[in-house]
Amino acid sequence: MSLYAIGDLHLSLGTDKPMDVFGPRWKNHVQKLEEGFSALTDEDVCVLCGDTSWAQQLEDAAEDFRFIDRLPGRKIVLKGNHDYWWTSGAKMRAFLEKNGITTVSILHNNAFPYGENAAICGTKGWFYDECRGTEHDKKLIDREIMRLEASLKAAGEREKYVFLHYPPKYGGYSCPEILALFRQYGVKVCASGHLHADSLRLAFNGFWENTRHICVSGDGINFRPCKIL
Ligand SMILES: [Fe+2]
Ligand SMILES: [Fe+2]
Repeated sequence: MSLYAIGDLHLSLGTDKPMDVFGPRWKNHVQKLEEGFSALTDEDVCVLCGDTSWAQQLEDAAEDFRFIDRLPGRKIVLKGNHDYWWTSGAKMRAFLEKNGITTVSILHNNAFPYGENAAICGTKGWFYDECRGTEHDKKLIDREIMRLEASLKAAGEREKYVFLHYPPKYGGYSCPEILALFRQYGVKVCASGHLHADSLRLAFNGFWENTRHICVSGDGINFRPCKIL
């Protein structure tokens, strides 16, 4: 059993939003994803780090989730800034059940045990480009910090592997509140997505304090899930 992560699948199988307009790396990206996932077995777990589907409504995301369900392994999904279909945990779980989707779980104020002593934690996170320095922004940050801490607490004594959509370190920017939680909870790894095209050059891949940071945006890893553990 191995743990993988990939972000930004940006699927639109229920509508028809061509992704190759975003650059040559996105040409045939659904086929590339199928090939990338062929390295996994049904014993493996892959965390999808946000921006999973372009659908606006949950019902419109059904085709995308059926595609994800057919990929090998268990998939754990968290929210990205483009996941407009995202709703309450209860509604999303009911939707998956209604559509017969059995290999997808939702990471939302919770954690999943992995193996003997690891845990999968995470939330959307927060990114500097959402910050306008207003009271509203502060509320957004505080809410994400609370969600991340709820997830870390749910992991108990297990070693914590964190998955976010927004990178907490990027170029000259960092999110001190999130990095402080990593320090406090001894987070081993943080995998995140969101960055595309030219922004990928500014991704931080490496250790910050005792946490290993990895950028797993789909187009940055040629749509092959990145092995984490
Ligand atoms: Fe994205
Ligand atoms: Fe994003």
